[in-house]
Amino acid sequence: MSDVYSDDWICTRLGEDAEHFLGAVHPPVYENSLFTFPDTAALGKALRAEDENFVYWRGTNPTVALVQDKLAALERAERAKCFGSGMGAISATISSQVAAGDHVLAVGAIYGPTTSFLRYLTKFGVTHTHAADLDQARELIRPETRLVYFESPTFMAFRVLEIAAVVELARAHGAVTVMDNTWATPLFQKPITLGVDLVVHSLSKYIGGHSDLVGGVVCGSAALVRPLSLVEYQLYGAAMSPHDAAKVVKGLRTLGVRMAAHGERALRVAEFLDAHPRVRSVRYPGLPGHPDHELARRQLSGFSGLFAFELDTEDVSLVEKFVDSLRHFRIGVSWGGYESLVNAPAVTVEESVRATMGIPVGLVRLSVGLEDGETLVADLAAAFEALG
Ligand SMILES: Cc1ncc(COP(=O)(O)O)c(C=O)c1O
Repeated sequence: MSDVYSDDWICTRLGEDAEHFLGAVHPPVYENSLFTFPDTAALGKALRAEDENFVYWRGTNPTVALVQDKLAALERAERAKCFGSGMGAISATISSQVAAGDHVLAVGAIYGPTTSFLRYLTKFGVTHTHAADLDQARELIRPETRLVYFESPTFMAFRVLEIAAVVELARAHGAVTVMDNTWATPLFQKPITLGVDLVVHSLSKYIGGHSDLVGGVVCGSAALVRPLSLVEYQLYGAAMSPHDAAKVVKGLRTLGVRMAAHGERALRVAEFLDAHPRVRSVRYPGLPGHPDHELARRQLSGFSGLFAFELDTEDVSLVEKFVDSLRHFRIGVSWGGYESLVNAPAVTVEESVRATMGIPVGLVRLSVGLEDGETLVADLAAAFEALG
């Protein structure tokens, strides 16, 4: 896909030729589960390339295909395939690239269920290793490493990995790279232009943007995405519904303005926390004091609203008190919607699991939403006061 069109045009116009839809201002939803054909030969022909023809919902659907075209264009990929969840996309993508005897190297902290999926694959003879960072990845990569998986910024740690360097390492060992780009969205980071083979997203976060859908996507070359569309997508059955696809179409219309606003409010909140005496550190790559800020500025064209900070306490009950004192931030998992959210792993995640992830007791994760930044800062200030 050429990049002659702006991201804004891709988000709001690509594939939406109103004259095909009676001038409708947004495309109609194809909610039929199957399509019929004039004769058996036509059905047979369609079935032979089911990823390109509309036959049955579990294969593909015009509303879902519209979203795929937009996301492929945004990621500068040849193809995209949407799934019923981010994990649907991640598990199908990883399993499409590995076989018994292969090794997967994960670089930096990654989303918990992705790690669980790598663990699950051991029963099929696929092993994995976790490297804390790129230096350790150079030591841990093996001749049988077939896939290098990473996120940037990394999960919970919010460290920034140099994408081109991860790609270089993987290529030197004949491995494919798969990167989760959910945090930045394709508006702020385009890993395929830096050589990443396959990019996955949870559409349930910023791209959907309204906490009203669960979805996922993988973007990459036709040579990699076509086979997994025909095999893993079809066989695992994590199909995206056209209704969710229609919500993604609407989410994309405002993605640009929402991401700018998330970034602006998150920076305001991060600066407030950074200056607060009860805060040990703020893990927001948009702050000049973040250890990877310079790399982040080179690699990202913007910063989203999800980050963590560490309260200066080893007392879980104080962390709980702080979080429960917040009135505006709501307590919940996930992120990327309008509403600001808070989550304290010390309270919600088992200690042994937290220890393996290197998450300190005082860590608090915020998803800064679209409310007024001053309201959010006032809410946090009141929660600090409640600590006494
Ligand atoms: C970074 C990241 N990737 C993937 C996922 C999985 O996405 P989904 O919940 O849509 O399956 C999540 C969900 O929280 C996530 O945070």
